[in-house]
Amino acid sequence: MNESLRFHLLGSSQKFQDICIQIEKIAKVEATALITGETGTGKEMAARAIHYHSNRSSKPFIPVNCGALPEALIESELFGHERGAFTDAKSASPGLVSEADGGTLFLDEIDALSLKAQAAILRFLQDNTYRRVGSGVQRQANVRIIAASNADFNRLLSIGHFRSDLIYRINVLTIHMPALRERTGDALELAQVFLKRFSHHYKLPPKSLHPDTINHIIKHNWPGNIRELENVIHREFLMSETNQIQFGNHSPTQSLDKERLFKNAKANAIAEFERAYLYKVLEQASGNLSEAARIAGQERSAFGKLARKYGIQSSV
Ligand SMILES: Nc1ncnc2c1ncn2[C@@H]1O[C@H](COP(=O)(O)OP(=O)(O)OP(=O)(O)O)[C@@H](O)[C@H]1O
Ligand SMILES: [Mg+2]
Repeated sequence: MNESLRFHLLGSSQKFQDICIQIEKIAKVEATALITGETGTGKEMAARAIHYHSNRSSKPFIPVNCGALPEALIESELFGHERGAFTDAKSASPGLVSEADGGTLFLDEIDALSLKAQAAILRFLQDNTYRRVGSGVQRQANVRIIAASNADFNRLLSIGHFRSDLIYRINVLTIHMPALRERTGDALELAQVFLKRFSHHYKLPPKSLHPDTINHIIKHNWPGNIRELENVIHREFLMSETNQIQFGNHSPTQSLDKERLFKNAKANAIAEFERAYLYKVLEQASGNLSEAARIAGQERSAFGKLARKYGIQSSV
């Protein structure tokens, strides 16, 4: 494995190492690739790794979040437009495909593309030619497309939201990024590296993980995957008041319950002690409260109050 790739893509689990081997292989060839996986599993990182280990590394890597672009603008964003092509087109724009010429265009959340935009991408993938919106001129760009999605394509295909011909063109090569919970040992390894990075970044003394926290990191499901882990470590690194970070053992409600349990147990123990003590000194004083108060070393009034608390009426 290439050293710089190893530096950026953390994780020693077999499952992730197999992914790194696939990434290296895919970097060496020119075909379109599709990266799938749950949110936060490192799809964009994988796409960047492919680009920077390919022959295109000296050319741009251009990420486009298809889900964030309004449908009306997506074609002009990708392929550019001429001045006056639409109301807001005050000047001509070359578009992202042209910007990515020689490099890689990363189409993130590709499942969010409208059917119209999918058709435009498909045309471009077929012969590397495109037209700016509002222009009749056919242009060419040498762009590798890497797409990513966390959607279930089979479902999208079955309800007609995604063109099957585009899928077949895109997923010549596929990588499925495993969820963090499937990567044995990686969560803790990443957590430790993130801790070091934050200490370095903020120029603050290093912090370590409490054993309970280590346990939690290993057992937690991490539905938000690496992004969730990174955020938690970031927050806890900054917020924890000691050098040993502790989180995840109990939720705040559980901790309230525990606190209540402790208070109840303590109150019960005290009550039991007081009652037993009262009876003992009253017995010694033959039921005489004043005498019992004297034996207990207490004021008569305070002792009387305690006795009433336990239902013992002053008989003397
Ligand atoms: N193997 C890894 N080693 C270290 N950091 C990683 C790794 N994979 C991902 N990360 C970090 O986790 C975060 C999420 O990664 P990335 O944005 O690539 O995930 P994604 O799958 O594209 O997420 P989303 O589906 O939410 O867009 C980033 O901050 C990235 O730096
Ligand atoms: Mg992403």
